[in-house]
Amino acid sequence: MPYVGTADSAGLFDGLSIRSVDLANRVVVSPMCMYSAGTDGVPTPWHDVHLGSRAVGGAGLVFVEATGVSPDARITLGDLGLWNRAQEDAHARLAGLISSLGSVPGIQLAHAGRKGGRTLPWEGNLPLSPGQWGERLAPSAVPFKPDWSPPRAMDRTDMDAVTEQFRSATERAARAGFRVLELHFGHGYLFHQFLSPLANHRDDEYGGTLENRARFPLRVIEAVRDAWPADLPLFVRLSVVDWAPGGLDIDDSIQIASWLKDAGVDLIDCSSGAVVPGESIPEAPMYHVEFARTIRRSADVLTSAVGKIIAADEADGALRSGAADLAFIGRAMLKDPYWPRRAADALGATNELLVPLPYRRSTQHLP
Ligand SMILES: Cc1cc2nc3c(=O)[nH]c(=O)nc-3n(C[C@H](O)[C@H](O)[C@H](O)COP(=O)(O)O)c2cc1C
Repeated sequence: MPYVGTADSAGLFDGLSIRSVDLANRVVVSPMCMYSAGTDGVPTPWHDVHLGSRAVGGAGLVFVEATGVSPDARITLGDLGLWNRAQEDAHARLAGLISSLGSVPGIQLAHAGRKGGRTLPWEGNLPLSPGQWGERLAPSAVPFKPDWSPPRAMDRTDMDAVTEQFRSATERAARAGFRVLELHFGHGYLFHQFLSPLANHRDDEYGGTLENRARFPLRVIEAVRDAWPADLPLFVRLSVVDWAPGGLDIDDSIQIASWLKDAGVDLIDCSSGAVVPGESIPEAPMYHVEFARTIRRSADVLTSAVGKIIAADEADGALRSGAADLAFIGRAMLKDPYWPRRAADALGATNELLVPLPYRRSTQHLP
């Protein structure tokens, strides 16, 4: 499926079409866990208000947070899930809400692997005991932190089961009306654990070389691409570097990005880190933009950057310079759902699609 329209000169408020999806602008609400799901991972009115207000705020694409494909795939008991009908129905309501407000609804599917099963962030982010949580799965039986109980190293049956969970959640996401799907391959969660030699210590065909470490993640991509409608875009969030000795580096990520592209992935969402504790991440404004540029050029694939993108002119400049195709905004969007409207004002962008019809009079002179 060909890409459409990605001239290097496009800015934050130019549209972008990927497969059959037309984004009104290149501002994306980054997936962000709210840890506020109802019983059993079902979206609640909090999600309606949170995501609805970001859609009204004018972002071209609004992502629903990392959503677990099974109970054990979640980070916390407050995470969203997409493994049953009640969740699917509630997600359909969310996707419909975002669409009705003029934005494109996206969802991120995830498996936390060895980082799953924790208390909520405001309850300390501590590992739940075996009695409070099911099993943690990982490529190797090595815990994220030494004082956590070890996860179970996955065998082929586990890999088949997780692949099917992703296929099934993908089908549910499509039925629910989401139009962009992102798989979470970063931030130290299950697929990043397979990709990174810091978490993958296997000595079978799923460990060792980069090709081996990527084998299971690519198998899941194949299943998901097969289940996700051919006319809809598939994104992957990667941690493109591990910021730790012996971890993934940018050359590894160029290779992974190019395998993902060959497997039908449309865009690499460039983030970094979080596979081992204690990394030293040099967090500066727009700190993933140059990684996005390298991957975009070297793997010839669409990219996005995320991470401390706050100033509209810097984001616009990064896109116009050909570093990335989309700007994902996280914390700045939590502080201000109208970040896109303020950015458009700052840049003098007059894209009418940013302003929902009932709000149009806010831009008119009244007596
Ligand atoms: C409250 C919160 C929840 C987050 N949850 C997710 C998530 O569900 N999936 C994900 O890939 N990243 C998640 N992130 C990371 C953000 O998507 C983003 O990559 C990060 O905050 C850096 O961007 P920023 O500097 O614009 O905030 C979360 C960040 C925050 C602040």
